[in-house]
Amino acid sequence: MPNSVSSFSLRMLRSYFSKTTLLLLGLFVCFYLTGCEVFTNANQTTFDPKGPVAAEQQKLFMLTLWVCTFIMVAVVAALFYVIIRYRHRPGKNDDEIPVQSHGNPLIEISLIALSVLLLIIIAVPTYTATVFSYNVPPEYEADVLEVTAFGYQWWWSFEYPELGIVTANELVIPAGRAVRVNVRSRDVVHSFWVPKLAGKRDMIPNRNNDLWFLADEPGEFHGQCAEFCGESHANMLFRVFAKDAADFETWVKRHQEPGKTPEQGLALEGKNLFQAKGCVQCHNVTEVAPGGILGPDLTHFGSRTTVAAAILPKTDENLARWIRDPESLKPGNLMTDGIKDQNLTEADIERLVAFLQSLK
Ligand code: CUA
Repeated sequence: MPNSVSSFSLRMLRSYFSKTTLLLLGLFVCFYLTGCEVFTNANQTTFDPKGPVAAEQQKLFMLTLWVCTFIMVAVVAALFYVIIRYRHRPGKNDDEIPVQSHGNPLIEISLIALSVLLLIIIAVPTYTATVFSYNVPPEYEADVLEVTAFGYQWWWSFEYPELGIVTANELVIPAGRAVRVNVRSRDVVHSFWVPKLAGKRDMIPNRNNDLWFLADEPGEFHGQCAEFCGESHANMLFRVFAKDAADFETWVKRHQEPGKTPEQGLALEGKNLFQAKGCVQCHNVTEVAPGGILGPDLTHFGSRTTVAAAILPKTDENLARWIRDPESLKPGNLMTDGIKDQNLTEADIERLVAFLQSLK
């Protein structure tokens, strides 16, 4: 044994840090240094908080990162000190074992005390940030907007109980006002996450859970289910649109009014087809056929910007792609079964697209 320890030479150390290792290490440092810039431009970065809850969570992450970096540097430094201090040297008798010691109360108690201190430094802010993410601060409480978010495989329903609005996959909120999101699930566990605003919060079947957030400025934010929930978990996206007070009022008024339904042309043919082909069994379109709850509410679908839980921009082509072959875009989704025996022709799909786009 002594031999294998003492034969650990500087040469071995050098071979450990081969050119490849150094290259990888260099790349890592480059990614780390430039990373912040790259990550802040991404839609789902947590390094670019746009509201107080996300900012608090980022602060906590950075604190934890620095504490862990300190531990890593200290441990690696101690390791290198020992490797170099006790290395093999020419002319040194390797059978000579350095003085062995056992039990050093001062070092042991100091290490325990330091570990406890570091844990407290992380634990206290973790606790306060967790509590903060649940409770709307008193200064925002009077003006808070209540939303209930339901997770489905694999899409989102957003209900505004005070406003009497139901929408899907796109959550519209007023900028500068706190939003309390009561998260629920209709099937399996999902997790509500808008990286630039707040998250993540598990949506658990038969259990209430909630979070709050606030968007400092108007803007568009990307959301994503953050809990594996089946084969199309990765396709369970949503958008949050923060609007200024006037735009939000306009949006609310329009969505409280009955939806527009087509009275002529291709869109009217699409409406008839929508009823004839049984789409109404799953989808609610209040003015046409209310009641469907298995799929997203489509009452004001035409005013949305995305399709299929925000995986595609809502263009005629993408809408047609989705209706033609939903399985290829979102494997395992319920609509695949719904349309498989409907024998939709390309002309039918065109009619349905016209109808859906007209639902403003
Ligand atoms: Cu829902 Cu992952």
